[in-house]
Amino acid sequence: MRPWALVTGASSGIGRELALLAAADGHDLVLVARGGAILATVAESLRARHGCTVIVLPMDLARRDAADALADELARRGVVPAFLANNAGVGAWGRHQDLELAAELDVLDLNVVAATRLLKRLLPGMLARGSGRILNVASTAAFQAGPWMAVYYASKAYLLHYSEALAEELAGSGVTVTALCPGPTPTGFQSASGMAPSRGLRGLVPHTDAARVARAGYEAARRGRRVVVPGLVNRLLVQALRFVPRRVANAVAARANRPA
Ligand SMILES: NC(=O)c1ccc[n+]([C@@H]2O[C@H](COP(=O)([O-])OP(=O)(O)OC[C@H]3O[C@@H](n4cnc5c(N)ncnc54)[C@H](OP(=O)(O)O)[C@@H]3O)[C@@H](O)[C@H]2O)c1
Repeated sequence: MRPWALVTGASSGIGRELALLAAADGHDLVLVARGGAILATVAESLRARHGCTVIVLPMDLARRDAADALADELARRGVVPAFLANNAGVGAWGRHQDLELAAELDVLDLNVVAATRLLKRLLPGMLARGSGRILNVASTAAFQAGPWMAVYYASKAYLLHYSEALAEELAGSGVTVTALCPGPTPTGFQSASGMAPSRGLRGLVPHTDAARVARAGYEAARRGRRVVVPGLVNRLLVQALRFVPRRVANAVAARANRPA
């Protein structure tokens, strides 16, 4: 029997690439996103290329009851994922004072609450089996504050710290937790988050493509690594943050994020 992989946000970008890698690596798949039609197309190509079983579960994970409904559905079908990619995520770009509260709460409900609920529900099955790989897709945003995307950056800091704490707690259990921290990656994320063209600093950081980001994350999860930052420049920038006064880092991030 093939192991199961559950990928949230599997219809585009990094999540779709993660689903491809998991299928190529011998998993059957559960794919989740809101857009059922695109998910069905992704599923069809995975079945054709890899001969795997693919379950498509279209749902809005920002709804407070969604992660539990998803976990219940998996239990009903007897699916215990060996690999969980908590990948679905969105940002809300703009000054906190100008953004709709509902949009920012959606960011928290998806990036933080749904990821936590899903992990919490699926962890016991992994622990009972003595094995499991969990990949939480955070961001380089997790390492600093992000003016003009304050709630998004903070949500990713939560995911990074949550992942590292669990990785430590679970040491020796056979279950590993990896935080994938990509830098700028051209996907649907920028338009979904309402991001405007920046003043230009963002352009100084080379973009890493979604396939490369996913490969780095999938490999790191397979090896049980705790944190992975794809791309040399991203790794250098994250390290530099240790030595730069926070106030300076905040000002640089503001310059990178505010509109041109
Ligand atoms: N792209 C970047 O620059 C970048 C950098 C660092 C980290 N990340 C992180 O990488 C992850 C993947 O993003 P991406 O760049 O691949 O963006 P993307 O191409 O926009 O993909 C996002 C995926 O999440 C799904 N999704 C969005 N809202 C959802 C909801 N409420 N319920 C269920 N599924 C939902 C989307 O499908 P539907 O719209 O059909 O629901 C889509 O499949 C996110 O966590 C993001 O924060 C991205």
